[in-house]
Amino acid sequence: MQIAIDGPASAGKSTVAKIVAKNLNFIYIDTGAMYRACTLIAKNGKVDYGDEAKILDLLENSKIEFKNGEKEQKVFVNGQDVSLTIRTPEITANVSQVSALPGIRKKMVELQREMAGQNNVIMDGRDIGTTVLPHADLKVFLVASVASRAKRRYLDFEEKGINQDLAEIERDIEQRDYKDSHRKISPLKKAADAIELDTTNLTIDEVVKKITELIEKKQKKETKE
Ligand code: DC
Repeated sequence: MQIAIDGPASAGKSTVAKIVAKNLNFIYIDTGAMYRACTLIAKNGKVDYGDEAKILDLLENSKIEFKNGEKEQKVFVNGQDVSLTIRTPEITANVSQVSALPGIRKKMVELQREMAGQNNVIMDGRDIGTTVLPHADLKVFLVASVASRAKRRYLDFEEKGINQDLAEIERDIEQRDYKDSHRKISPLKKAADAIELDTTNLTIDEVVKKITELIEKKQKKETKE
């Protein structure tokens, strides 16, 4: 089974997808982390975030991988654990620019489809239902108000000991939403056959339950067919 979970920044996609994947024993693929890794590779290579050719060159000699850590999945670039570095404000502020480059998207989509292969996967991102896995068995589009998404991110940062102004986070989220949904290639968009779920007033457990129910319903339907 292939499950696509799309939606804007901080709508709860990865938190929920990780839990569902663990419960159902599916492979979880965080595609946002892959674009973040590309952004980090550009930064470390001292390449401009808009220089597609040079970033692609760097990617030729870079390996982006996911590995299961003790608690959660970790992201590696050339064998180095970058799980935390890819979440820093510098990377967050520039990932929309890097992820809008067509050549980078082409490469990442190829890699994502390869990772999905024939496995039971749950993949989260912006274009999974529209582009990466257009034939996914289930497509969910998570949305939530900007205020609630900013609050979640704020609490998340606080837990990690990072201090960031709530109003600033809200501004960042709005800017990223705008850039992600207005880029030319595979913008953030709900697939025509996706089920929209507004998580503004839902707890993580409630969202997990809803998605799990949708998957089980789909599984039953597919076994009948
Ligand atoms: O989910 P995230 O916030 O970690 O994603 C980081 C950025 O990567 C996001 O602002 C847009 C980009 N992205 C994308 O363009 N396509 C995806 N499938 C996933 C993320």
